[in-house]
Amino acid sequence: MELRYLGHSAVLLSDGETDVLIDPFLSGNPKAAISAEEVPADVILLTHGHGDHFGDTVEIAKRTGAPVLAIKEVADEIAAEGVEVFDPNLGGTVMFEWGRVKLVPAWHTSTTPKGTPSTPAGLVIDFRGTIVYHLGDTCLFSDLKLAASRGNPIDIALVPIGGHYTMDRFDAVTAVEFVAPKFVVPVHYDTFPPIETDAQGFKRDVETETSAKCLVLAPGENHSL
Ligand code: NI
Ligand code: MN
Repeated sequence: MELRYLGHSAVLLSDGETDVLIDPFLSGNPKAAISAEEVPADVILLTHGHGDHFGDTVEIAKRTGAPVLAIKEVADEIAAEGVEVFDPNLGGTVMFEWGRVKLVPAWHTSTTPKGTPSTPAGLVIDFRGTIVYHLGDTCLFSDLKLAASRGNPIDIALVPIGGHYTMDRFDAVTAVEFVAPKFVVPVHYDTFPPIETDAQGFKRDVETETSAKCLVLAPGENHSL
C-alpha cells in the first residue's frame, strides 16, 4: 500500500488498483499537492464536516463516481446532492471489497456542510490488511488507546499536530503512545498561521519517547508500506 500526503489532513491510500481518498480539502488549500479535478478516488472517507476536511468532496464524487463514507448527518446532506453514500455512526463498521472502515470517537466540534452541528470522528481503516488510523481533528483523550486496541495493531497513524484547532505537537506525542502505531505521519499543521508548528521537533520527540517511527511527509510525498 502506498500512502500519499496531499496536504493539511488529506491523504490518498492506494495499491495501484483502488484509491481511497480521505478529507479532500484541495481547492483553497495553500498546501494542496493535487487539484480536485485530477485527484483519483474509488471511495472518499470523511472524518467530519468542517470545510478544511469536506473540501471538494461533492465535486470529486460526481466526477469519479466514488461513493462517500461520512457520519450519518453529513452523509445525508451529501446524498441529497445525488452522491452515493455510506452513513455509519460512531462504532459502526462499513465493509468494502478492499477492506473496512470503522468510525471511532474524536473530541472536537463539527457541523454538516449546511451548518447543522454534528459529531466528528476518527477513521480506523483496514486497507487490504494494512491498518491505518486517521485521528481526524481531535484533542488528546485517553480513549484513543481503546479505539486503537480493538483489532490488529495500527500500522500507520495520521495525527494532527498543529494545535489551536486540535491537539498540539506535545499532546500528539502522548496520542502516539496511546495509539502505538508502527509509523506516524503528522497532519493538520503549517496550512495556515494559527497551526504552524515544528514537525521535526515532533518527530524527534516521538522517536525519543515512543517506539513509533515518524514520517514527516511534504505535501505530494509518498510512503510505501
Ligand atoms: Ni475540524
Ligand atoms: Mn480541521
